Amino acid sequence: TVPRRARRPRRAPAAEPGPPVQAGSDWSTWSTYDRAELGFRNHWYPAVWAHEVGRKPVPVTIAGEKVVLVRDDRTGAIKGLHDRCPHRGVPLSLGRRQFPGTISCPYHGWTYDLENGRLAAVITDGPDSPICGKVSVATYPVEERLGLVFVYIGELREDGTPPPVEDDIPAELTENTLVLGGRNEIRDGNWRFAAENGFDEGHAKYLHNTALWRLFKVMPTWNKTRIVERDGWLIRVQDEVHWEAEFPGVGRFSNKRWWKRMPLPDRPGKNGDANPVIAALDLPGFVSIRLPGILRVAYPQFIHYEWYVPVDADHVRYVQLMVRFETGWKAAAFKARYLTAIRWLFHGQFTAQDAWMVDVMDSPPERLYRPDLSLTAWRKHIEDADVVVQTVGGRGH
Ligand code: FES
Repeated sequence: TVPRRARRPRRAPAAEPGPPVQAGSDWSTWSTYDRAELGFRNHWYPAVWAHEVGRKPVPVTIAGEKVVLVRDDRTGAIKGLHDRCPHRGVPLSLGRRQFPGTISCPYHGWTYDLENGRLAAVITDGPDSPICGKVSVATYPVEERLGLVFVYIGELREDGTPPPVEDDIPAELTENTLVLGGRNEIRDGNWRFAAENGFDEGHAKYLHNTALWRLFKVMPTWNKTRIVERDGWLIRVQDEVHWEAEFPGVGRFSNKRWWKRMPLPDRPGKNGDANPVIAALDLPGFVSIRLPGILRVAYPQFIHYEWYVPVDADHVRYVQLMVRFETGWKAAAFKARYLTAIRWLFHGQFTAQDAWMVDVMDSPPERLYRPDLSLTAWRKHIEDADVVVQTVGGRGH
């Protein structure tokens, strides 16, 4: 039987019951992307908020890898270990924090050093246990940025270190003072559908037509997409289109009621000049996307970011940040507005519409139309990029 909601593209759609499938309607044109249901190795991914990690171990799954995060009480730094005791496979996230700088498996008390994952003591085998020092659990590089815990999934460089976490964070976020609000949750659906939804041109002017957010911010009604590639970002560049027309054989349609000129960083509109940090980005378009799955929606005064972090084949960690590059009372005022309105309107109801689609949409075959140029550009970008596809069973160091 055909699953009610298949979230993975099937390799052989023609074998499914149903109408004949058009050639080229699966993802075989983008074979790297097709295989990347767990994302890519050699990247940093945001996991939970840093304040959520204390003495108590926190389990997370990133790109199919199970990681336990725990704060080292000696240094205050967050450490990441493979969440599996090598003895009998019990999750270390169920373990105890009995001795400083260690975590002990709850089953037989094998106790691991948080710094290097080495088996430091075996409580049930005496202080002279010969297995000590001979077993290690894999470790993961971890960094705290933007109030989030970033975990590195992939291989270390020749000098034994990971690439800098800044490689996987938009530069404007690490180079400027800012204030942010955000939501971090796991949603149903594969990360690629979430990423494509974010960059999808056509949905904004239809799906989100019913979003409350529109009462406060205009939505783009654009067409004639061009994609510009710059500094690793794909930027959607479009002309605005306002329809008030007879659609042949269907009827009259107007989007005039909610159509307004969209403010862009270089033409800010009624709220005054663009923020200097955003203006300096000199973006030719409103929405852009980059590896390993980061979306940037730049309004003149603030930027909304979305990270699509692969959890497993059917789940995505969806991290939303709303950022203002301000200090002082302006920053405080934004924080208050975020908590009282934006968090519910934009990071709530608005993107819940996206989550709904990502959850219910079926996997290929698909039949694309003109605005889907944004999707095919993203897939091709990955096809041409120097990426290492994550496979089941990848692990830390
Ligand atoms: Fe972990 Fe035995 S399973 S100590």
